Amino acid sequence: MRKILITGACGQIGSELVPYLAKKYGKSNVISSDVSAGCENGSDFEFLDLDVTDFEAIENAIDEHDVDTVYHLAAILSATGEKKPFKAFDVNLVGTNNILRAGIEKGLSRVVIPSTIGVFGPETPRENVPVVTVTRPRTMYGITKVTTEMLGEYYFEKFDLDVRGLRFPGIMSYVREPTAGTTDYSVQMFYHAVRGEPYKCFLRADAYLPMMYMPDAVSSLVKLAEADLKNLTRHTDYNVASYSFSPEELYNEIRKEVPGLEVSYEPDYRQEIAETWPASLDTTLAERDWGFRPEYDLERTVKDMIQNLKVKLA
Ligand SMILES: NC(=O)c1ccc[n+]([C@@H]2O[C@H](COP(=O)([O-])OP(=O)(O)OC[C@H]3O[C@@H](n4cnc5c(N)ncnc54)[C@H](O)[C@@H]3O)[C@@H](O)[C@H]2O)c1
Repeated sequence: MRKILITGACGQIGSELVPYLAKKYGKSNVISSDVSAGCENGSDFEFLDLDVTDFEAIENAIDEHDVDTVYHLAAILSATGEKKPFKAFDVNLVGTNNILRAGIEKGLSRVVIPSTIGVFGPETPRENVPVVTVTRPRTMYGITKVTTEMLGEYYFEKFDLDVRGLRFPGIMSYVREPTAGTTDYSVQMFYHAVRGEPYKCFLRADAYLPMMYMPDAVSSLVKLAEADLKNLTRHTDYNVASYSFSPEELYNEIRKEVPGLEVSYEPDYRQEIAETWPASLDTTLAERDWGFRPEYDLERTVKDMIQNLKVKLA
């Protein structure tokens, strides 16, 4: 079997995707890479120091490690992207174009790139948003990600490169604390609950957003990657989400497990980002084309997060 390369593997999703792929395809077939000088996965998995803005380095990595498939996760996310917009442009657009171009020049069989609800904007409808709708984001992150979706389609049509992607909502996980996104408040609320500390939320109590739990995010990405191409009516922009909630609703759900949790609200610049995103997504195309079916509802997610964080933070 030829190898799977994961870029941005030290991040929130990569930290859980790498072990998932290793379990499925064998450790020796999975290569993690990032600009960090190694990550939690680095000691267990083959690790490459690979900057996706360096085209030659990508080509060399593909050649040297006989890479067949790339899960391209390297990115600068929404909140950091607003602080460092030029860096976000370089990593998210130049870096992604490098991966796609290397994909055709090296004959990769597949490139998988997660997209995001950040592709939507203030003119997008708020509820049950379909795949094809107004995608005019106002953040640098959103602009780079909607362009990535379009670039992926262009490479598919023009060069026959099999590029696949889905739009993740906010993702919650106990494994790796997120630091760069607008939906990070949800994970932070869990950490504070388990540590017995009050939490100051940076979104408004009623900021309703689509979300999902990491085990469903990882398995969905791999399920899409493995789907039969002839069943796919889209390439780079399937909507996926498990549920939608506001900070207040999450607080009420967590309090069923941790009754003493205290939350106050002090919205910052991330509230403005959240206001440009939809409250809920229509996921029927993902369900129909490749069998998207999340296993965790909110109640099960909250119980699992709390249980695992109690062990982790003990
Ligand atoms: N986590 C979420 O809630 C979420 C939601 C929607 C979409 N996504 C998408 O999923 C993908 C992965 O997100 P994540 O949450 O793991 O992000 P993350 O910020 O946790 O990780 C991104 C990784 O990319 C690496 N990176 C940055 N610049 C790089 C470069 N020049 N070369 C190589 N690596 C570089 C970082 O070191 C980091 O480890 C991104 O495409 C993101 O847009 C994530």
